[in-house]
Amino acid sequence: MAGSFTQPVDANAVLCALENGEVLHLFLDEHTLLDSRFRPMREATQLALPLKGPLNDDIAALFSALPFSTELATRHFESSEPSNNPHAQLHRTIKTWLDTNADDEEKTALLTQLPRKWERLGDAMVLPEQAFQTPQWTHLLSRCSQQQIEMLWQSVAQALSANRLGRQHAVASDMFRTSQTELLYGDNGWVEFLDHGVRFGFDFTRVMFSSGNNTERRRIGAISMKGEVVVDAFAGIGYYTLHMAKRSQAEHIHAFEMNPDAIEGLQWGIRANDVEQRVTVHSGDNQRNLPLLYGKADRCHLGLLPSSEAVWEHAVRCLKAHGGWLHIHMNVRENEIDTWQASTVDTLKHIAAEHGRTWNISSTHLERVKWYSPRVRHVVLDVHFEDIHGMNDV
Ligand SMILES: C[S@@+](CC[C@H](N)C(=O)[O-])C[C@H]1O[C@@H](n2cnc3c(N)ncnc32)[C@H](O)[C@@H]1O
Repeated sequence: MAGSFTQPVDANAVLCALENGEVLHLFLDEHTLLDSRFRPMREATQLALPLKGPLNDDIAALFSALPFSTELATRHFESSEPSNNPHAQLHRTIKTWLDTNADDEEKTALLTQLPRKWERLGDAMVLPEQAFQTPQWTHLLSRCSQQQIEMLWQSVAQALSANRLGRQHAVASDMFRTSQTELLYGDNGWVEFLDHGVRFGFDFTRVMFSSGNNTERRRIGAISMKGEVVVDAFAGIGYYTLHMAKRSQAEHIHAFEMNPDAIEGLQWGIRANDVEQRVTVHSGDNQRNLPLLYGKADRCHLGLLPSSEAVWEHAVRCLKAHGGWLHIHMNVRENEIDTWQASTVDTLKHIAAEHGRTWNISSTHLERVKWYSPRVRHVVLDVHFEDIHGMNDV
């Protein structure tokens, strides 16, 4: 029973060397495999992390994609007390709701199917796509009245200390990467919050926000861009634009965005962070608008998944004659990252040569942002364009 045991309990575990513990923890979390009811355990030079689900070939294959070795085993874990952690609170709350809304025989199974993971956006909590959608939960909810269901969502929100509740659906594969988050409880989806000192506001039922890109927002915002003109080709609500304006101190950012819902959030963020004088929003298709910046930028940020390749040529042409930087986002299979990195630099050299640029072009860093799917990584490649001979015309 979640959160109620205090004695050590046998559970499945995955073990790795201590220095890989953080990466493995993130990996389990992203694949919803971490059993947060238990406390990770240090054993000499190894870390044992509690694993949800059975130890089978699929799980073993998933871990084999990692760049370090892991071992599957069972371990004696302690409960991740305190028992008033959100998991335990959720368990208690749902148990109470089930006491009046479900049959005794159903309860035990339903209580083992509670969400183990959620994401906070301001005062809203967003549950994963499968939350309360198992066949047994769907069957129970189909018998409940609207009022009973409303009570359930309200209780879940309260247990998780939130005022509103949403449930994620896959980000649409349309050009806008539209959020399809469903509002389960609350009047509207507008949320406001602080991310590494930068204010964000948007409607989470209409626009996506990837908390998994947290490390990348922190990294980009830590790069000094003083005196630079920056192009953000896929600005969204300002995921990177606002960090580059506020924390990197770019002199001016040209933010390109075509989704009106995202632009609403972007404009809000520009005002809230007091960077109106240093950000220009170019609404509409960047294929049409990027030529406005040809030859004018020191840096271009290309943050679109699964690929930003459609604007690579525009981005190269936006760089000033003396060169600059590109930050290229891409989803790449883990075992193809090296070849993708080399072929991307080749493609950029080809584009530059076609436009008469004689830059020295090299990749300086590859950031592994998050796992996008079991074997596919969201990566960002930093590429430097340098006019070593001063031969490019201004
Ligand atoms: C959601 S952000 C990407 C954030 C993050 N890097 C990710 O993909 O997870 C991508 C933004 O690019 C915008 N976008 C896509 N194609 C575009 C285009 N041709 N012109 C302007 N904006 C575009 C979408 O509307 C969306 O807001």
